[in-house]
Amino acid sequence: MTAAPTPTQRETVLRAATSAPSKYNTQPWWFRWDGGDLEVHVDPTRRLPRSDPAGREAVIACGAATFAARLGYAACGFGTAVEGRPDEDDPLFAARVRVVAEAPDPRFVELHPYLARRRTDRGPFQDTPVPTAVLDELGAAARAEDAWLRVAAWEPAYDHLLALIREATWLEEQGLRDERAAWVDAPDAARRREGVGAESLGPLPEQPTGTVRDLAVGRDIAGREHTAFEARPTIAVLETASDTRGDWLAAGQALLRVLVTATRRGVAASFANQPLEDEELRFEAGHLTLPPGEALHRSAQMILRLGLSTTQAPSTPRRAPADVLEPPTWHTSRSRS
Ligand SMILES: Cc1cc2nc3c(=O)[nH]c(=O)nc-3n(C[C@H](O)[C@H](O)[C@H](O)COP(=O)(O)O)c2cc1C
Repeated sequence: MTAAPTPTQRETVLRAATSAPSKYNTQPWWFRWDGGDLEVHVDPTRRLPRSDPAGREAVIACGAATFAARLGYAACGFGTAVEGRPDEDDPLFAARVRVVAEAPDPRFVELHPYLARRRTDRGPFQDTPVPTAVLDELGAAARAEDAWLRVAAWEPAYDHLLALIREATWLEEQGLRDERAAWVDAPDAARRREGVGAESLGPLPEQPTGTVRDLAVGRDIAGREHTAFEARPTIAVLETASDTRGDWLAAGQALLRVLVTATRRGVAASFANQPLEDEELRFEAGHLTLPPGEALHRSAQMILRLGLSTTQAPSTPRRAPADVLEPPTWHTSRSRS
């Protein structure tokens, strides 16, 4: 029989879990305690029907929250195991983080303090490349969670990926922008403790490569400056073997492990997922970063821009632990589509 976390420890676990990244900071999750174990559920009222119709990115966010919860447990002295989707009849059940009768993984204990420092950084990065040893460590972090982080290093692949990102940005429909506008620089978002504020958008690049996604594209946000960004951003694709809900959950866990490991090494990240919102372009992105001669296709789950940051990006708000413990009230939820 394992000890159950105290109320203070539960708060540590929930604060860790809710620090996870989610698309436009929608926080598409809710949690339930089952004894000392934590269930992670998808909140369908916070899904994005236009840009994420299958709910793939919502599950990725829940996967990230799952891994972050494990770091919270580890900081409190608990070892954990993850069971993904134990209830096949409930497609909104993401994962159960189970307390096990073992000491926590010491690497999780080390990573926990970096959760609070992790941010999506849409500012310019230094031109100095990310050291190869760090990229290798990030690759190992992804592999530990059943995913791959493939850096686009081969010339045709790099250029092709950039072209895909630009093409997807160009193809973006107004409906996607309208959906995003409900979460980005939305008037009452701070009160609701969700969404992305104008201060997190970052400056506009003088020479856009598309790898810094402008979440306010087409809108005029006061006070945004133009500035020079790194000339050749490092781009990496987070991939999984196939494209099931289990793969999405693994991608989310891998994503958080990669991001928090990067934070620990002084490496920042932002995302350029535009091609992944289009089925055909997403399929292409799954081929792109392969070394010449390798013909294996994987499913692209996230496109990351990595670099040494120049400034500390601002933090985004989160709902309080008490507000994420209840199942959402379906009938009263607001529609944002
Ligand atoms: C599945 C997923 C998709 C995301 N897609 C994008 C994206 O395309 N562009 C972007 O700038 N940020 C993207 N983000 C980052 C979120 O906007 C960010 O995590 C959220 O605003 C919270 O901010 P934080 O990461 O600084 O805590 C994504 C995050 C997740 C988990």
